[in-house]
Amino acid sequence: MDFTLTHEQQMIQQMAREFAQQELLPGVLERDEKSEFPLEQFRKFGQTGMFGIPYGKEIGGMAGAYSCYILAVEEVSKVDASFGIAFSVMTSLYGGSIANSSAPDYIKKKYLEDVTFGRKIGSFGLTEHSAGSDAAGQKTVAVKQGDGWVLNGAKCFNTNGPLADYTVVYCLTDPALGTKGMAAFVVEKGTPGFSVGKVENKMGIRSAQVSEMILEDVYVPEENMIAKPGEGFKLALKTLDGGRIGVAAQGLGIAKGAFEIARKYLMDREQFGKPLYKQQYLAYKMAELQTDIKCAELLLYHAAMCKETGQPYGVPAAMAKMTCTNTAMKVTTEAVQMLGGNGYMKEYHVERMMRDAKITQIYEGTNEIQKLVISGQLFR
Ligand code: CAA
Repeated sequence: MDFTLTHEQQMIQQMAREFAQQELLPGVLERDEKSEFPLEQFRKFGQTGMFGIPYGKEIGGMAGAYSCYILAVEEVSKVDASFGIAFSVMTSLYGGSIANSSAPDYIKKKYLEDVTFGRKIGSFGLTEHSAGSDAAGQKTVAVKQGDGWVLNGAKCFNTNGPLADYTVVYCLTDPALGTKGMAAFVVEKGTPGFSVGKVENKMGIRSAQVSEMILEDVYVPEENMIAKPGEGFKLALKTLDGGRIGVAAQGLGIAKGAFEIARKYLMDREQFGKPLYKQQYLAYKMAELQTDIKCAELLLYHAAMCKETGQPYGVPAAMAKMTCTNTAMKVTTEAVQMLGGNGYMKEYHVERMMRDAKITQIYEGTNEIQKLVISGQLFR
């Protein structure tokens, strides 16, 4: 067992850390206030290939390790969790759908390479109003017509939806077959009948753009079918296993970001004639939180290691997602409390982090779904 980061991991971690401090920290409060996405910074971050780190060069990726991608999501999420989820959706949900699919390499490259470099934006359309935790309950359909397919339905809660050039849409080709008739298509922005619906006004991750995507008689050529009928559901679930490691990294980043703000605050602020950290109950609280963060980190890096070494990673991903996101909620809530009245004020950042943490316990499978995935393996 070696917990030392490789040169490649350290380099990507450092790049993402510097980018977060220089490009994301200025303006993060304003973007949260105004629900504005940092599109310019997002594209700049992508220029070095950050959004396709774990995918092969033959399909337009960077042939790096999954753990490098995970370390980068963690770093940016310490400062801006909205950026973290936009990044994670680009790489693991959109990119994962393409890379894990049975599409030929030229199609994978067509739809991955520009996303890898931030020239195009990708999103993932699985969730519907009647299909949240029960991802099998899809209503969106695809009907064969000539050399292609006609899609009808609506997706919701699509992160990056309003910005997306490419969206992977999961839908049923034969509703009578249920998930055995689920396929997946890449739908390009501007395709007639494909539009952005309601853009959500959210409690947290306010600068991330999340919307409905409406499909009204959308014609898509056959070659855009990246999962054939019957392959779509498994592609979605496999892709979500990777996505959950990304959300775990986002959660860990939020937890570490809030922890550091609290640590500095306890050293700087004096009450009752001494710095706050000299109050043993606060120092002990920080010791507990640091231990929670370390446990979460170990589960996260283990899940990433399982994925990149070809071991089963569904359960490790579920454990990491549940633990890292619960840790994010706990650390941010405690940080607000330790900062007292200041913690409740926007300029101290921790109230935003607390609002951002909440969604990490919900999306890409609620933490109750993660327990279902973990317990499902226990009693087979
Ligand atoms: N990988 C590949 N295949 C898998 C799999 C996996 N991880 N898990 C199950 N399967 C296969 C099964 O083997 C089974 O195959 P067979 O039919 O051949 O036996 C098939 O898929 C169906 O499996 P289940 O019967 O277990 O499926 P289910 O309907 O009971 O659902 C579930 C399982 C775990 C509850 C699943 O529905 C789920 O993960 N739900 C949560 C959905 C979710 O995470 N949504 C988030 C959307 S993305 C998002 O959050 C938006 C964003 O932008 C951030």
